[in-house]
Amino acid sequence: MNIGIIGFGGMGKTHAYAVENLKYFYSELPFEARIKGVCCAHFENAQEAVRRFGFEKAYESEEELISDPDIDIVDICTPNIYHYDTLKAAIKAGKHIYCEKPLCTSARQAAEIAALAKSAGVSGGIVFNTRFLLPVMRAAELAAEGRLGDILSFAGRFYHSSAADPNRRAGWKQDRNVCGGGVLFDLGSHSIDLIRMLCGEFKSVSGLSQIAYSKRLGTDGKMWNTNADEAFYMTVRLKCGACGTIAVGKIMQGTNDDHTFEIYGTRGSVKFDLMDPNFLYFYDGDKPEKERGFTRIECCGRYPAPSGVFPGQKAPVGWLRGHVGSMYSFLEHVYRGATPSPSFDDAAAVQLIMEKAYESDRRGGLRLEI
Ligand SMILES: NC(=O)c1ccc[n+]([C@@H]2O[C@H](COP(=O)([O-])OP(=O)(O)OC[C@H]3O[C@@H](n4cnc5c(N)ncnc54)[C@H](O)[C@@H]3O)[C@@H](O)[C@H]2O)c1
Repeated sequence: MNIGIIGFGGMGKTHAYAVENLKYFYSELPFEARIKGVCCAHFENAQEAVRRFGFEKAYESEEELISDPDIDIVDICTPNIYHYDTLKAAIKAGKHIYCEKPLCTSARQAAEIAALAKSAGVSGGIVFNTRFLLPVMRAAELAAEGRLGDILSFAGRFYHSSAADPNRRAGWKQDRNVCGGGVLFDLGSHSIDLIRMLCGEFKSVSGLSQIAYSKRLGTDGKMWNTNADEAFYMTVRLKCGACGTIAVGKIMQGTNDDHTFEIYGTRGSVKFDLMDPNFLYFYDGDKPEKERGFTRIECCGRYPAPSGVFPGQKAPVGWLRGHVGSMYSFLEHVYRGATPSPSFDDAAAVQLIMEKAYESDRRGGLRLEI
C-alpha cells in the first residue's frame, strides 16, 4: 500500500514514523506499506522531507498527490480547516483515507464525509490514537467483560500548558479560522472519543468555554485577539444514564500531556493517566472488603500478537506507540477490506457532540440533546 501524506508538520512526521516502524513492532506483517511521498503547503518543504527521510516523491500540490494512480491511501495531516476539501477530493478519487482529528469543522461536513466514503466504498479511518495505548485497551476489555458493572460516573480530562504563557505567540490551533474551533476540537475530540468508546453514546451536553488571555501576539508578531477557546468544560449525560464531566485546556501550568479519565461503575472503577501510560488503575468492588483498593495493572509493552516482541513486554510505552498501533489497525482493516475502527462514523459522532457543546456554551450553558 502506497501512502501519500498531505501536511508534513508534527503529525505528518508522526505518521511516517508509524508506517516506517510497523515492521519492528509487528512480526509477520500481512501487508507492505510505505510512504510514497508528501505534499506540504510549500513545495520546498516537501522536497526537504524527501531529502531528509528518503521518500520517493515530493508532490507540488495535493491534487497531484491524490491523482497519482500509485497512491492507495491519502493521509491527511493538515490544519483542520483544510480537511473537508481534501477528504472530498480523495473520496472522489477512490482513495482510502487516514485522517487526523477532528475529521472536519462541522457536524454536517463530518456526516457528509462519512456517508460519501461509505457510498464510494473507500475506507476512512480517524486518528484517535490514544485508543491504542494498552491501559486504554485494557480498560475497554474490563468494561466489555462487565467488570465495571453499569457505568454511573466519569471524568475525562486533557490538559496542556502550551497557552499558559501569555507571552507565547498564538499558533493556528489558537485561531478558530484555521482550527475550526479551539481546544475542544484539538484536545476535546480525544477526550470525548475515549468516554464515548468506554462508557457509551452521549445523550446530552452542557458546555462552558474559557479564554484566559484575550490578547497575545499572533504568528505575524502583531497583537491578536484570541478567538478560540483556551479551555472548555462540559457536563455530560450518557444514554445509559451515567453522568460526568469532560474538561480540556491549554492554560494549565505544570501540565504536559495530562490526558486522564476516571470511570466509576456499580462493580468497579478504572483510572488512566497518559503521563503514567504503563499502568491502568482498577478497583474491583467484587473483592472481599479487606482486599479492596486500586490495583496498578502493569500494561507496559504487553501488546497482543503479532506485536509485543519489540521492544519487549516489559518495555515502557510512549505516546508514539499509540500512533504505531493506530496506523497498524487502520492498514490492517484496509487490507482486509473491513471498515476501520475508529471510523468516520465515530469521527462524525464526536464532531456532533463538540458542535452541541459549542452551541450550549453560546446559549449560556443550556443542556442540549445530541
Ligand atoms: N492525533 C494526535 O495525536 C494529534 C496531535 C497533534 C495534532 N493533530 C492533528 O493533526 C493535524 C495537523 O496538526 P500538526 O500538529 O501536525 O500541525 P503542524 O502545524 O505541525 O503541521 C501542519 C502541516 O500542514 C501543512 N499545510 C498547511 N496547509 C496545507 C495545505 N493546504 N496543503 C498541504 N499542507 C499544508 C503545513 O505546512 C504543516 O507542515 C491537525 O488536524 C491536528 O488536529 C493530531
